[in-house]
Amino acid sequence: MQSKHEWRTNMKVKLKEISADEKILLDEQIRERLYTYEPFKKAETIGLTVAMKGEINTKKIIEKAWTNGKRVAVPKCNPKTKQMTFHYLTEWDQLESVYFGLEEPRPDKTVVCPPEEINLLLVPGLIFDLNGFRIGFGGGFYDRYLQHYSNSTVSLAYQFQVVEKVPTESFDEPVEAIITNEQLVNVK
Ligand SMILES: Nc1ncnc2c1ncn2[C@@H]1O[C@H](COP(=O)(O)OP(=O)(O)OP(=O)(O)O)[C@@H](O)[C@H]1O
Ligand SMILES: [Mg+2]
Repeated sequence: MQSKHEWRTNMKVKLKEISADEKILLDEQIRERLYTYEPFKKAETIGLTVAMKGEINTKKIIEKAWTNGKRVAVPKCNPKTKQMTFHYLTEWDQLESVYFGLEEPRPDKTVVCPPEEINLLLVPGLIFDLNGFRIGFGGGFYDRYLQHYSNSTVSLAYQFQVVEKVPTESFDEPVEAIITNEQLVNVK
């Protein structure tokens, strides 16, 4: 089996091959499926990262959540400890650009959201398998966070990011469901 590193490299190439027009369409299909997903409908607070270019667009999800009266929490990463703290985001100007163009909440303008206040966490990743295991971007941020998080989880992915089996290590934490442009994969 390929190493996680090889999986990541290959998937990044595939992701770049999606055309801009196709991406708009696929992202919309994924978002629409998320909006009909029961744990999303029920969630009073969702946690998610502000997607970077090339990732599934989450800004529209944030706006939808606000429109639906949900609270939104986004992570601030500590690159030294590899820990994340979520902060409530209520308006766009509470974001700032940090390293590599990543957008994070400004701690001076936002309130911290403890893990137990998040009802549904959208867990990012590059490749997912049918057991909910995931190859992320390699920081271990979400594996660490999920150890202390016990509410619902879901990942958004293009269908080709879902495979039968990915290599896992002892610290990898699975997600409960994966939503793609084609289907809902319920793991538990
Ligand atoms: N719970 C944990 N406690 C301490 N270290 C951890 C934990 N989980 C993962 N790590 C460390 O993080 C590194 C990266 O893990 P992994 O390759 O699974 O990243 P990933 O799942 O792609 O990243 P992410 O969780 O941010 O999406 C591992 O080498 C491991 O040492
Ligand atoms: Mg992992």
